[in-house]
Amino acid sequence: MGDPHPKLHATQLTRTFGRAPHQVDALGPLELSVAPGEFVCLVGPSGCGKSTLLRIAAGLLRPTTGTLEIRTRSLRPAAMIFQDYGIYDWKSVRANVRFGLDIQRVPRRTANARADEWLTRMGLADFAHAYPATLSGGMRQRVAIARALAVEPELLLMDEPFAALDAQLRTILQDELLDLTQTLHTTTLFITHSLEEALVLGDRVLVMSARPGRIIAEHRPPFPRPRTGDIRDTPEFTALKGELWELLRKEAVPA
Ligand SMILES: Nc1ncnc2c1ncn2[C@@H]1O[C@H](COP(=O)(O)OP(=O)(O)O)[C@@H](O)[C@H]1O
Ligand SMILES: [Mg+2]
Repeated sequence: MGDPHPKLHATQLTRTFGRAPHQVDALGPLELSVAPGEFVCLVGPSGCGKSTLLRIAAGLLRPTTGTLEIRTRSLRPAAMIFQDYGIYDWKSVRANVRFGLDIQRVPRRTANARADEWLTRMGLADFAHAYPATLSGGMRQRVAIARALAVEPELLLMDEPFAALDAQLRTILQDELLDLTQTLHTTTLFITHSLEEALVLGDRVLVMSARPGRIIAEHRPPFPRPRTGDIRDTPEFTALKGELWELLRKEAVPA
């Protein structure tokens, strides 16, 4: 907020599904600005409209009222990572990572080189020619991250990308993402229902209400950048988690 040129800016945004009397008010009204280089985490109870918001941001869904603008300086697209990875089982790992570059018609040789670079960064160099079915859940998720980042998006949209992973892998991938985004300064909108994840990753943590989701609280985790996952072990972190959890619980279990 306050930045004159946010990468993402939503005003009075709402989305409903269906028609009366079966109309579902899924989202908003919602105001949101994400500044260049900022990592914003959204947490909220299940069904509050988080995925709806991200789908609008990704251009997959239209708002019912209001606007959501994405202001990028180049033709590079926003990249979205879904919870279920969305990778193609019939394409090799390398072809999956190259996917966005192929759409941009990047010459094959350059595209392969860039895909391989990202596979190396994600610890998957030996798996370029493997097929996703032969990989573990964590590796598949890394393929999805490599694919999204290979297009060097100006805006990264992530919808509970680690939700399906076990706790240990989740921690590892959080730390990797922390490292990557702090190096690349990628503007990121990250959805999670884990407060811990939000506090580790976010410059700002926005708490959403139950459906129709609105932003009811904003918090800036006071951990300086560059940070590492070690902040999880500090008393400050635990206290903050408890504080925000109270807020979220009130929304998740309405009195
Ligand atoms: N395509 C759709 N048609 C009808 N209802 C939908 C559709 N997409 C989402 N909804 C409803 O909108 C609400 C918000 O959904 P969603 O954005 O997926 O929530 P979240 O991601 O926070 O769990 C839910 O009640 C859901 O059932
Ligand atoms: Mg969702």
